Amino acid sequence: MTTTLPMNTQLTEQKTELQTYGTVANRPISLDQKVRLTSVSGLNQVLADTMTLRDMYKKHHWQAAGPTFYQLHLLFDKHWSEQVELVDVLAERIQTLGGVTIAMAPDVAELTRISRPPRGPENSTIQLFRLLQAHELIIAETRELAHTAANEGDDGTNDLLVSQVLRRNEFQIWFVSEQLAGTGIAQRDREADRFVMASHA
Ligand SMILES: [Fe+2]
Repeated sequence: MTTTLPMNTQLTEQKTELQTYGTVANRPISLDQKVRLTSVSGLNQVLADTMTLRDMYKKHHWQAAGPTFYQLHLLFDKHWSEQVELVDVLAERIQTLGGVTIAMAPDVAELTRISRPPRGPENSTIQLFRLLQAHELIIAETRELAHTAANEGDDGTNDLLVSQVLRRNEFQIWFVSEQLAGTGIAQRDREADRFVMASHA
């Protein structure tokens, strides 16, 4: 069915949505609506954070500077392209479950849990540290959602989260953290088991 609209139509004044965000349409995939709602909600959180990490990689790719400029410029773009693939995988899983995927930047900014970096450039140590924190946040929520999905019988979501999102983020953390090896800047806090900035004092 085609819809004809005059060019001066103000779409903001129209009810144009075919499905409301936060709902799930019927899908005959032998999974209860309640289970699909839970998975879709969690997947949209992982998606919003993945889109933010993706954009952070491009920001750092453009704003890289210093003696490691070239290698970081290339590494950040490689990881960006891999995060782009994860964004599509996550979004299409949400649609597969009958959900509505978050998509536009203002909506992603409202949902993401990753703290917003300044617009201006930061040095490479801070860039790498921000990336490690973002990856670890995504890994933690991905692992938790994967367990929930498995417990509720959503094996497809569990498989996608573990085999693609979790493993890719863990792999990228290896490359990012090794850039800081030997610098004494980012060290592992054994008690909290979190990356911390070491004091320069
Ligand atoms: Fe580029």
